[in-house]
Amino acid sequence: MKFPFSAFCFPFLAALLLAGCTTRPEQEVKPATLKDAFKHDFLIGVAVNQRQFTGADTNGAALVRRQFNSISPENVLKWEAIQPRPGAGGYNFAPGDRYVEFGETNGMYIIGHTLVWHSQTPAWVFLAADGTNYCDRETLLKRMRDHIQTVVGRYKGRIKCWDVVNEALQDNGELRPSPWLKIIGEDYIAKAFQYAHEADPDAVLRYNDYSLENETKRKGAIALIKKLQAGGVPVTAVGLQDHVKLDWPTIEQEDATISDFARLGVKVMITELDVDLLSRSRSADIAEVRKQAASNNFTNGLPDTVQPALAKRYADLFSVFLKHRHDITLVTFWGVTDGDSWLNRGRLNQPLLFDRQWQPKPAFDAVIQSAQP
Ligand code: XIL
Repeated sequence: MKFPFSAFCFPFLAALLLAGCTTRPEQEVKPATLKDAFKHDFLIGVAVNQRQFTGADTNGAALVRRQFNSISPENVLKWEAIQPRPGAGGYNFAPGDRYVEFGETNGMYIIGHTLVWHSQTPAWVFLAADGTNYCDRETLLKRMRDHIQTVVGRYKGRIKCWDVVNEALQDNGELRPSPWLKIIGEDYIAKAFQYAHEADPDAVLRYNDYSLENETKRKGAIALIKKLQAGGVPVTAVGLQDHVKLDWPTIEQEDATISDFARLGVKVMITELDVDLLSRSRSADIAEVRKQAASNNFTNGLPDTVQPALAKRYADLFSVFLKHRHDITLVTFWGVTDGDSWLNRGRLNQPLLFDRQWQPKPAFDAVIQSAQP
């Protein structure tokens, strides 16, 4: 007997249609995530603290896993944390190890921050045996080399990208008169990159700094990178920290800054993004926000009227980042929720995309929206 084709197919077609109808709405309501929204553009990172990467802050850890595909260590790989005392016995690897394990378990692109910096570096690093005067150039170079070889070597192939030198420039574009510069001389930067490259030839090596959007400092940074490149120094990325305000830098400054560094042939990464709502500002609106917050000594946080301004600021910044998506490989937020941010400093700031209850703010939606074609 000949079985009619339509009678055979109908139940299957109907089932398929039904399945389509029932599964599609679920897919549509699935909340968006930052890492998915920008998966064709760049990685989305976040600075994590110890409570997050150990899982003690369960909500924070869950949020990091869900939203981000790259992590930076807020403090645990800084010199004072990982080598508080001199010599091979002076290291404290446990927190760094946990940080890297967290990133690996969750398949994340793991950043190292930071090897050579004037801040959060113990005094002994720069001192002679008398404990008072600076040590000599050879001693400091040896300490730097030992530190970099040990730390970069320990996480070789696992930490994919290092901030080798952090904040070496002053606002006027000249080198900061840090103990590194005073004791070793200008070539301390080249040496740091060389040592890091020796320790892990495959790692992306970053020069990281703030306020590079300001032309004078940017010129200094461009000159520095060019000089390093001319000397064959393996600097492969520039990190724009982007601790920004509502009205600084302008979108034009951000745009020009990314273009200027991309032109040098290095990758550009946004490394420490947050929007400080409480810093001094020229704009009257923001001055009013500060005034209101200050009237209760910053203990009640900011009025809700500030949310739209923050959302617009983030949307504008992400539109510039997207414009440069072929040069930008990573955008990292400096903290998970407002409660975690270093910008609180005894006041209640709201610089990030998630509030103190781990909930997305209007700024989160604005960033997600900016990713739509
Ligand atoms: C900050 C941390 O967020 C704070 O917890 C710490 O007390 C001080 O350092 N530029 C950098 C970061 O490169 O390492 C700084 O992080 C913020 C400014």
